[in-house]
Amino acid sequence: MARVLITRALPFAALERLHEAGHQVTVHPGPDPLDPPALRALVAATDPDGILCALTEQIDATLLRAAPGLRVVANFAVGTDNIDLAACAARGVAVGNTPDVLTDATADLAFALLLAAARRLAEGERDVRAGAWTTWVPDGWLGADVHGATLAVVGAGRIGEAVARRAAGFDMEVLRVGRRDDLHAALARAAFVSLHVPLTPATHHLIDAAALAACRPGAILVNTARGAVVDQVALAAALTSGHLAAAALDVTDPEPLPPADPLLRAPNLLVVPHIGSATRGARERMAEIAVANVLAGLAGRALPHPVA
Ligand code: GLV
Repeated sequence: MARVLITRALPFAALERLHEAGHQVTVHPGPDPLDPPALRALVAATDPDGILCALTEQIDATLLRAAPGLRVVANFAVGTDNIDLAACAARGVAVGNTPDVLTDATADLAFALLLAAARRLAEGERDVRAGAWTTWVPDGWLGADVHGATLAVVGAGRIGEAVARRAAGFDMEVLRVGRRDDLHAALARAAFVSLHVPLTPATHHLIDAAALAACRPGAILVNTARGAVVDQVALAAALTSGHLAAAALDVTDPEPLPPADPLLRAPNLLVVPHIGSATRGARERMAEIAVANVLAGLAGRALPHPVA
């Protein structure tokens, strides 16, 4: 029997397998994530062999010091920027994530955001509810053509490729940006830019003021990657000046944005609450993989989905 700490209540059937395997499972029951001191205190109190965490928890060297027996960390996410991988490696703690099973859900959401921003769906819906729609308007709520437009897919991984496949169905020209050197040239050509890079020191503020200035005037930015890939001060300026026509964000830095954040006052900003993988099917499968990672790590086996 091993001790497993689940840092957020995850109401998915796969979690039962931890109990069935005879492990002692502690679940932080609250709806909200624990702040770092509270998480550290819970970790110190439970001394877990395995942690199943969400992207809302920082698993860093300080936390690891509170868990001397820790052998495996399973992230309920594909992104692992919330985990200090070097510190885990130094301690011999295996780390797993949940790739593949959320690729299509996240690509669907990226495309939904792209379409919504292009066709001004949020604005139109607000106007209808506010009674501002009184008749069909020949030049009202004009948006951008999606079909046949050029899309820069920044990040050449699984989700970027899945977005590119969807773009093919809209007869879009896809510019795949796999190297930083190619970024500005692609931005200069693209009517739409969709971000799919992991957050690392190298991609922090990849979309900075210079990158935004390199964008084609009137471009639309979609971010379903991580908020900190974009310099949000520069983004607010680009939206305010009208250089960008719109931005549609599933992710921000921080999450959620404080109500007073200037980005929320920028025009033509659509923001949704980090729901890229939020389909029932994707989240069930993420739970299955996270549990499989925990069970393998506790058994001393290679994780089915290790983080390289
Ligand atoms: C979600 O953002 C994830 O990384 O799974």
